[in-house]
Amino acid sequence: MAIPLFLLLLLLSGHPYSSSAASPIKTVVVLVMENRSFDHMLGWMKKLNPEINGVDGSESNLINTTDPKSTRVFFGSQSHFVDPDPGHSFQAIREQIFGSNDTSANPPPMDGFAQQAKSMDPNMPQSVMNGFDPDKVAVYKALVSEFAVFDRWFASVPASTQPNRLYVHSATSHGATSNVAALLAKGYPQRTIFEDLDDAGISFGIYYQNIPATLFYRDLRKLKYIGKFHPYGLSFKKDAKNGKLPGYVVVEQRYTDSKEEPANDDHPSHDVYQGQMFVKEVYETLRGSPQWNETLLVITYDEHGGFYDHVATPNRGVPSPDGMWGPTRFSSSLTDWESGFQLLSSLPGFRRPLVMVHGPNGTPFPTSEYEHSSIPATVRKIFNLSSPPLTKREAWAGTFDGILQILKQPRTDCPEKLPTPVKIRQGDANEDAKVSEFQQELIQLAAVLKGDDLLTSYPGKIGR
Ligand SMILES: *[C@@H]1O[C@H](CO)[C@@H](O)[C@H](O)[C@H]1NC(C)=O
Ligand SMILES: *[C@@H]1O[C@H](CO)[C@@H](O)[C@H](O)[C@H]1NC(C)=O
Ligand SMILES: *[C@@H]1O[C@H](CO)[C@@H](O)[C@H](O)[C@H]1NC(C)=O
Ligand SMILES: *[C@@H]1O[C@H](CO)[C@@H](O)[C@H](O)[C@H]1NC(C)=O
Ligand SMILES: *[C@@H]1O[C@H](CO)[C@@H](O)[C@H](O)[C@H]1NC(C)=O
Repeated sequence: MAIPLFLLLLLLSGHPYSSSAASPIKTVVVLVMENRSFDHMLGWMKKLNPEINGVDGSESNLINTTDPKSTRVFFGSQSHFVDPDPGHSFQAIREQIFGSNDTSANPPPMDGFAQQAKSMDPNMPQSVMNGFDPDKVAVYKALVSEFAVFDRWFASVPASTQPNRLYVHSATSHGATSNVAALLAKGYPQRTIFEDLDDAGISFGIYYQNIPATLFYRDLRKLKYIGKFHPYGLSFKKDAKNGKLPGYVVVEQRYTDSKEEPANDDHPSHDVYQGQMFVKEVYETLRGSPQWNETLLVITYDEHGGFYDHVATPNRGVPSPDGMWGPTRFSSSLTDWESGFQLLSSLPGFRRPLVMVHGPNGTPFPTSEYEHSSIPATVRKIFNLSSPPLTKREAWAGTFDGILQILKQPRTDCPEKLPTPVKIRQGDANEDAKVSEFQQELIQLAAVLKGDDLLTSYPGKIGR
């Protein structure tokens, strides 16, 4: 996983694990943060727990992968506030993973981060070759010491935000390898875990802050689901306190940044402090809920955001979910990459931070890994859904229902409150900052849902 995944492993039953035993979990809460790699967020946590496959500062990238005499940039622990945003398009990621356009290496050398960053900005190699000191991310420091951390949880596809977010609830991006504004606005047509849950009579709910990004699935725009969307501020704490959280809960953060209401999704340049405060609030709310004993909280990141990670992305034996090709082909100058799509669409991206589980140990397939499709796969097991996996990728992905039964009792020895993190960004949100691609997509989504025509001037005018 080139991505942090914190699985707050909340609970466990008295029986030795067997797949026929009913799961002790009745509520699964999923929180997907934005655009950070495992080493960037959690790599230095290895200092706290040597079992974590993190960093010690010996990791490095040459600034020019074909020039052994070029500057070597070592991985540091000085991350603070990152602006501008590192590259994380399909093409940028190819260069980060393979160091060049040649994608044949197995395992990939993970040596092109500094080079790719330098091509964007001369100062950026330092930013991408750095991670947070544990004290800067005090909330994660506390969670890492208390709960399960997955240090082999990968992005589902080596691409940007939306394709990866789509995998979280549908185990496919329907071929997408980039954020395609028009398709996002129309809504992606694939079946989701929400439908499977609903068919099985399991409740679900989305607690959103500005615009729910889950509406990028066309499934969720059905009238029958209108009651599943709840404003986070008004409802999340109240429902948790009253023991009324549904079976499958998605908590969405605030993706837009303003002085009054700073973004809390951890996407650069948004302040990680705000993201930490948000995770703290969600955890404390669940910890204080009568449902805590039966709740599993999963915190992960959608993709690596362009930040260095030392663990090689798996690039063999990973099934394409559904054989779909992306709707937009890259320009002809990128033909090599395009023809590599079949391979790469089936290539999970980086590790992201999840809170210490090292991989699914060759089940259900010898090449299986944890990635975003592990979420629907595990939810299917927890709720004993009789419907088949959504895609081949879900069928392949590792599930972690087994570790929920390791302890005999729910965790009631863990903290009720988490530490208050340090503020990282100096000053307020920059309200004049250019609207990011994700923010534009959300604005377009809002326009479509309001019944406005698809804005024809996308993205220029919408951005403003
Ligand atoms: C899971 O569902 C199957 C039917 O699909 C049923 O036979 C089995 O008993 C269920 N298991 C549990 C633990 O409820
Ligand atoms: C990287 O090094 C190679 C070989 O020395 C050189 O040809 C190339 O121009 C360098 N690239 C950059 C971006 O400096
Ligand atoms: C990869 O190929 C593209 C054209 O297909 C080219 O523009 C780019 O510079 C190449 N990148 C590297 C790292 O060689
Ligand atoms: C995260 O990165 C994607 C590119 O993959 C970008 O479109 C998106 O805007 C970023 N997220 C946010 C919240 O800006
Ligand atoms: C949660 O579990 C603990 C330990 O088994 C128990 O003492 C406590 O009463 C339970 N809380 C609720 C709300 O059921």
